[in-house]
Amino acid sequence: MDPSVSGLTQRLAEADQSHLLQFWSELSPEEQADLSLDLQGMDFKEINGFFKNAMEVSSSSKHEKMDARMEPVPREVLGSVSRDRGSVKEWEQAGLHHISQSKVAALLLAGGQGTRLGVSYPKGMYDVGLPSHKTLFQIQAERILKLQQLAEQKHKIKCCIPWYIMTSGRTMESTKDFFSRHNYFGLDKSNIIFFQQGMLPAMDYNGKIILESKGKLSMAPDGNGGLYRALGNQGIMDDMERRGIQFIHVYCVDNILVKVADPAFVGFCVQKGADCGAKVVEKTNPTEAVGVVCKVDGHYQVVEYSEITLATAEKRSSDGRLMFNAGNVANHFFSFSFLRDVVQKFEPKLQHHVAQKKIPFVDSQGHLIKPDKPNGIKMEKFVFDIFQLAKTFVVYEVLREDEFSPLKNADSQDGKDTPSTAKHALISLHHRWVLNAGGHFIDENGRRVPAIPSLKDGTDLPIKCEVCPLVSYGGEGLEELVKGREFHPTLMIDEHGVHELVKNGV
Ligand code: UD1
Repeated sequence: MDPSVSGLTQRLAEADQSHLLQFWSELSPEEQADLSLDLQGMDFKEINGFFKNAMEVSSSSKHEKMDARMEPVPREVLGSVSRDRGSVKEWEQAGLHHISQSKVAALLLAGGQGTRLGVSYPKGMYDVGLPSHKTLFQIQAERILKLQQLAEQKHKIKCCIPWYIMTSGRTMESTKDFFSRHNYFGLDKSNIIFFQQGMLPAMDYNGKIILESKGKLSMAPDGNGGLYRALGNQGIMDDMERRGIQFIHVYCVDNILVKVADPAFVGFCVQKGADCGAKVVEKTNPTEAVGVVCKVDGHYQVVEYSEITLATAEKRSSDGRLMFNAGNVANHFFSFSFLRDVVQKFEPKLQHHVAQKKIPFVDSQGHLIKPDKPNGIKMEKFVFDIFQLAKTFVVYEVLREDEFSPLKNADSQDGKDTPSTAKHALISLHHRWVLNAGGHFIDENGRRVPAIPSLKDGTDLPIKCEVCPLVSYGGEGLEELVKGREFHPTLMIDEHGVHELVKNGV
C-alpha cells in the first residue's frame, strides 16, 4: 500500500526516519510490500528512545568511572567445586531430586548469528569433528535425556526436563527444521519449546536507521537479554508455570562441555536460597574474551570483556591471581519467581548496551558501501543484566577443563575457541573419565600410553576417545565398561557398547 495512505510516511517523518523510504519508487511491488510490512511492525518512538538511552549510558566517561566502582565477588557467596569438594555430591543429589520432581527446566540461548564462526546456519548445528560427528544440539539433547534417566533411576519416578530454545528471526526455521529432521534426538517433541527473540535495527551515530539495501533495513537480534521480553510476549512463563517449573538453567549454545541442567549447580543454588546464580571459571589471562562477575556499586553484575579497561582487567590481588577472575561462562540459574518478576516488572528498565560495528549500508545514491571502520551501532540487552535485581545472588566456580570450552571462532593457526579447541577439550575430558574409571590406552606397539601423553605433532591429540552422553552425563557409570581394560584409540563408548574405531584416526 502507498505509504502516505497507510500513515507510514507521517509516522516516519515524526520519528525523523523518513530516509527509509528514499528509494521507494525504485522498488518492485514485492519489495515495497516487504519493506512496508517491516516498517509497519516497528515502534519508532521506542527505538529512538532506546538509541538515546543506550548512547548516554555508553558514554566513555561513565565507563572510566565504572572501573573505580568494581569490587570482586566476596567468598561468602561463592561455592567452588575445588574448594568445597566435600559438598559437591550433596548439591548434586539435591539437584537430581529437584529434577526428578520435574521442577527444573533448561533454557538455551541460541538466537546469536555466529558471525565470528562465519557459518550461515545456527551454531548449534555445527559439527566440530568429533569421532561421532555429533552437533552441539545433539550433544546437549543427549545430556538432557541422560540426566532425566539418572533422576528417574534414583528416585523411581518418571520426570522431564523441558528444554526451552530461544532462536531469532534468522535462526528459527532452520533450528526447528534441524530438530525435526533428527527426530528431536530422542527427546519428546512436546517438551522442546522453541520461541523467538526480537530484532532491532542498526543505527548510525545520528540515530538514523541503516538501510542494508534500497528496500531492506539492517536488522539484528536484540541481544541475549532479549530473552526477558520474549519470555513474556511468547507465553513462555505461562508454559513454565503450567508445568510447575521452579528452577531454570539458562545457558549459551556454544560451550561443548556444558552440563545442561547441571544438578550440582542447581542443588547449590537452591540450597543457598538463591533466586539467581552464575557459574564461573577462574579467568587467568587478562585479555581473555569473557565477562567477569563482580559487584558494581554494591550490586552484582557482569562487566563484559568489551566494557572493562585493560588496566582493571590486569589488576592482581595479593595472592597473584587476577582481582577480577570470576570468568562468566554464560550459565545462569534463576528461580521461577525471580524470572517472572523480571519479565513482568523489570524488563522495560533494562538498558541496551552499545556495540560499535562496521555496518554495510546504501548511501544516498543507492550504492552499497562496506565501511572499513565502525559507522554505527547495534543495541543489545545482556542476559546477565538482571543479576543486580536478585535478592540472593550466588556464584558457582567450576573447573575450566571440565566445563568450559566455547566455540566462537573459525579454525586458524593458534586460534582460540575454535572447532579444534572445542573438539580437543571434549576428547581430553573423556580420556580422563576413562582413566579415572580404571581404563588404559595402549599404542600401536601394545605399550601403555602415559596418562599425560605428549602431543607428537603439537596439533592433534594422540588419544582419541569419545563417550556418548547417553552412557555418561559427567563421567559416572564407566567402571563396569572400562575398568582394568586396555584400549587402542580411537575409543568410542556409546549406547551400543565399547568400540575401538580405526586405530589412530578420527
Ligand atoms: C558471552 C557472554 C560473556 C561470556 C561468554 C562466555 C553475554 C552477553 N556475554 O559472550 O560474558 O564470558 O559468553 O563464552 O552473555 N545470543 C542470543 N541472542 C542474541 C545474541 C546472542 O541468543 O541476540 C546467544 C548466542 O546464540 C550464544 C550466547 O547468546 O549462545 C552468547 O552470545 P555471544 O555473542 O557468543 O557472546 P559472547 O560475546 O561470546
